[in-house]
Amino acid sequence: MAGEGHEATASGGSAPPFDTTVAHVARVYNYWLGGKDNFAADRAAGEQAIKAFPEIGLSARSNRAFLARTVRFLAGETGIRQFLDVGTGIPSANNTHEVAQSLAPTARIVYVDNDPIVLTHARALLTSDPAGATDYIDADLRDPRGILAGAERLLDFGRPVAVMLMAVLQHLDDEDDPYRVTQTLLEPLAPGSYLALSHPAKDINAEAMARMAESLNKMMAEKVTFRDHAAVARFFDGLELVDPGMVQASKWRPISEAEAASPAALWAGVARKP
Ligand SMILES: C[S@@+](CC[C@H](N)C(=O)[O-])C[C@H]1O[C@@H](n2cnc3c(N)ncnc32)[C@H](O)[C@@H]1O
Repeated sequence: MAGEGHEATASGGSAPPFDTTVAHVARVYNYWLGGKDNFAADRAAGEQAIKAFPEIGLSARSNRAFLARTVRFLAGETGIRQFLDVGTGIPSANNTHEVAQSLAPTARIVYVDNDPIVLTHARALLTSDPAGATDYIDADLRDPRGILAGAERLLDFGRPVAVMLMAVLQHLDDEDDPYRVTQTLLEPLAPGSYLALSHPAKDINAEAMARMAESLNKMMAEKVTFRDHAAVARFFDGLELVDPGMVQASKWRPISEAEAASPAALWAGVARKP
């Protein structure tokens, strides 16, 4: 659907239902991953970021690999059968329901994103194994109660749920109180639920990351706040981090030396609600 020849912004006709003249993170991230669902403004912002931090493409791939390892761990080793994946992104390889249902066909997955382009791809996220189920909610992470109300249509909060906040909390600035948002999402969930998150790091490759943040904040609709180790660790307050704790995303249970060596500029961890 995206690509050359679809740069129009007006509503109506065959124009896409979103503004393609301003870069949006879902499409910039898609560009870094080598996808085709992006427009000139997204590619320009993506390229500026690559100038600031040339390894951003590898870092984005490393984040996807962390996501897949996390879901495999949760579905395969902890028995989690329910996932709430907020900040889903444009479908890519190894979407949460694909990884989860390859191990546990009955797994139920609720996806949430606030970008209309992700909504237009929702069909690709709704290809559930018939034994399980998937749903998609068009909502903002800043409204955790609204997300919970929607998610409850498919998920049973009396049983453990894994909340996944992969590379999304950087789009909430401190005034949005991302810690309260995260706590609110976990509050009604049963003991034995999990929080899995990754977050761009302010203190890995610090100078390049600062340059990249500055560049993205000039060019992209969604602003970014990168956080350091201590600030990301706060998201896990009151929870039990599983081994190896909160680490660079590439160092969280890598399955190969190549994965472990990736220059991921993200902190990442998985923790259990006691
Ligand atoms: C960098 S992408 C990460 C995608 C995916 N979670 C991953 O890790 O591969 C961030 C996604 O979060 C979404 N997002 C940004 N701010 C959001 C908000 N306030 N509420 C919901 N989704 C948001 C964007 O639209 C985008 O799809």
